[in-house]
Amino acid sequence: MHGSDRPGEHAPASPGRANGGAISVGRITHQDVPEICALYKRVWDSPTSAGVPSELVKSWQPTPLEFTSWMEGVTYFAARRDGKLLGVVGCEVSRGNCHLVHLAVDPEARRKGIATALVAAGVEWARHANAGEVWADALAQFPAAVALFKHLGFSECGVLHRHEWNEDVRLFERTL
Ligand SMILES: CC(C)(COP(=O)(O)OP(=O)(O)OC[C@H]1O[C@@H](n2cnc3c(N)ncnc32)[C@H](O)[C@@H]1OP(=O)(O)O)[C@@H](O)C(=O)NCCC(=O)NCCS
Repeated sequence: MHGSDRPGEHAPASPGRANGGAISVGRITHQDVPEICALYKRVWDSPTSAGVPSELVKSWQPTPLEFTSWMEGVTYFAARRDGKLLGVVGCEVSRGNCHLVHLAVDPEARRKGIATALVAAGVEWARHANAGEVWADALAQFPAAVALFKHLGFSECGVLHRHEWNEDVRLFERTL
């Protein structure tokens, strides 16, 4: 099977927006791991992490070895523009649903549709896996994530209180 026959793979997931070429989204390979870890480091070393407990920030900046273990049972997609890796999301399909995990976009590349393209790839992957719904969680204090999921048609379906290092986590779902 050609890579392009697989859902989400090498997909021109979105026509892209201003500032550069189109966004392409594809499944990651082991060769992408160092670049992905560098992206997570950039994201969580940036002001994005202001007010986030240090334990969480540390846990979201995996080493290549740690990221390799994240990949077990999780399908990751990366978004690139002009060859540069600008965003990542994981899709964990289990018990008929698809959990989007570790979604992050380069702070320099936000509001250009990259997360939208990544979530679209995740939804496509979930459909391919016959999942009944896609769901996601985000720290309550992340307004961008909340706005993103609502913008993409997810419903807010609950809150886990003091769930991660005492931080509230909001839950979002979209049935397929
Ligand atoms: C949340 C995040 C993934 C969004 O990525 P992005 O590529 O900037 O999102 P998009 O450009 O696809 O945004 C699509 C829509 O979502 C909403 N949105 C996204 N970011 C927003 C923000 N900061 N404020 C308000 N609305 C926002 C808007 O409706 C936006 O459409 P518009 O730009 O036409 O107004 C990014 O801010 C990020 O990496 N944050 C840190 C990590 C994080 O919160 N991950 C999520 C779960 S833990």
